Amino acid sequence: MKIAIMGAMPEEIAPILERLDDVQEVNYAKNKYYKAKYNNIDVVVAYSKIGKVFSTLTAATMLQIFACDVLLFTGVAGAVNDELKIGDLIVATKLPQHDLDITIFGHPYGYVPEGSVFVETDQDLRALAKLVAKEMDIDIKEGIIATGDQFIASQERKGFIADTFHADALEMEGASVAVVCDALDVPFFILRSISDSADMDASFNFEEFVESSAKISAEFLMKMVDKLAKV
Ligand code: ADE
Repeated sequence: MKIAIMGAMPEEIAPILERLDDVQEVNYAKNKYYKAKYNNIDVVVAYSKIGKVFSTLTAATMLQIFACDVLLFTGVAGAVNDELKIGDLIVATKLPQHDLDITIFGHPYGYVPEGSVFVETDQDLRALAKLVAKEMDIDIKEGIIATGDQFIASQERKGFIADTFHADALEMEGASVAVVCDALDVPFFILRSISDSADMDASFNFEEFVESSAKISAEFLMKMVDKLAKV
């Protein structure tokens, strides 16, 4: 098994890079990929840069060039659901692209012909996350995570995303990674820790909490990798 571990920003993979052995840095398509061993299993770690285009490129590269057979994403998100507080973890059940809009032709938001509004994540990986959370005695929420090429910092846009997609959290890469993995039939998992509430204070909170929340997500993800290494 070769596991792709992806984030969007350096902060999101930094806690993981520290734990790897035999790291080999490979440059491909203007990005850095870290081929390495973790507990004797093969991993490839990278951050894509922010947004749907860069994350699509990195996810496709992880699967097609580096031949990974499972993809795990870790990072931060803005909370939409009021129950989610800074530092809380959320596992995506399914992900829509909230900024995909050809509604003028009578289609729902997030839909293009031959696509689907939501892409579902792998059930076995979600079950593994629940097991890890139980063992750690922590609460982990499952829900819809909406993705778009916008940093959301307004009640109005957040409200639209909540009403249209019933999203619990939002970010800028998950749904595009989901489209790639689904198309290539590779099981994938999207984990986020809350850095802000996508409201007026979002940019301020994001800057303050991006590092600590990214660490919470990365550390949880590596606990899952520990388990995957044993199967
Ligand atoms: N990732 C973390 N917070 C975010 C926000 N408010 N909007 C988009 N992506 C985010």
